[in-house]
Amino acid sequence: MPSKAGLPPFRPLAVVAGAAVLCAVALIAGCQSQPGGETPQSGAPAETTAAAALDPVARGQYLVNAMGCDDCHTPHKPGPNGPEPDLERRLSGHPAAVALPPPPALGDGPWIASVAGTLTAYAGPWGISYASNLTPHETTGLTAWTEEMFLQAMRTGRHMGTSRPIMPPMPWRYYGRLNDDDLKAIFAYLRTLPPIENRVPEYAPPAGIE
Ligand code: HEC
Repeated sequence: MPSKAGLPPFRPLAVVAGAAVLCAVALIAGCQSQPGGETPQSGAPAETTAAAALDPVARGQYLVNAMGCDDCHTPHKPGPNGPEPDLERRLSGHPAAVALPPPPALGDGPWIASVAGTLTAYAGPWGISYASNLTPHETTGLTAWTEEMFLQAMRTGRHMGTSRPIMPPMPWRYYGRLNDDDLKAIFAYLRTLPPIENRVPEYAPPAGIE
């Protein structure tokens, strides 16, 4: 399947376009295809064109939803089956109001890391990392970021694209394998989120390390 990304292409428009073409040629045969129904065999060129024409924000939404950004960047609250994302604070990062005591001492392992109940703060050999506020809030979110910075950060694993290393468990190594269009689409979608004011604490290196 032709795709510039490592992920399967986002298909709904291609499906609808393919269905429309098939319906046009097979009208007499009584084409029953419905948008969103069974996927007809659409030709590769049509699919590529439709995918490229797709609104980047819609593609970014699709990628963010599928790539689990919420798992770490949306504060979780207790639910009947364990922690569940608090969608009112979607992608706003570790809540500033949740003050955490020092993480438990785990000694030499084999357990080496701890996670806060919100699933937004992580302590381990790398220190304490807090999931960032990805909403476009003017002073506490990603507003100061440029698209270029975002691409650089995902590709190099450097905070804001140039400074300290980005810490676990942010999967930048894998997201950095997306093509430019997909990363730009993710950034474009993040820009459309409702801005949420939340100043995430600074990353804290392990004791004794500056
Ligand atoms: C497994 C948890 C996890 C997942 C999944 C995750 N993140 Fe992160 N992310 C983090 C943590 C923790 C940090 C803070 C790291 C630090 O301070 O060094 C972070 C930091 C970031 C940053 C700031 C990087 C910087 O330069 O400081 C951006 C941007 C980001 N994540 C975007 C995303 C996007 C977009 C997704 C989904 C495609 C995502 N993250 C998925 C945990 C995660």
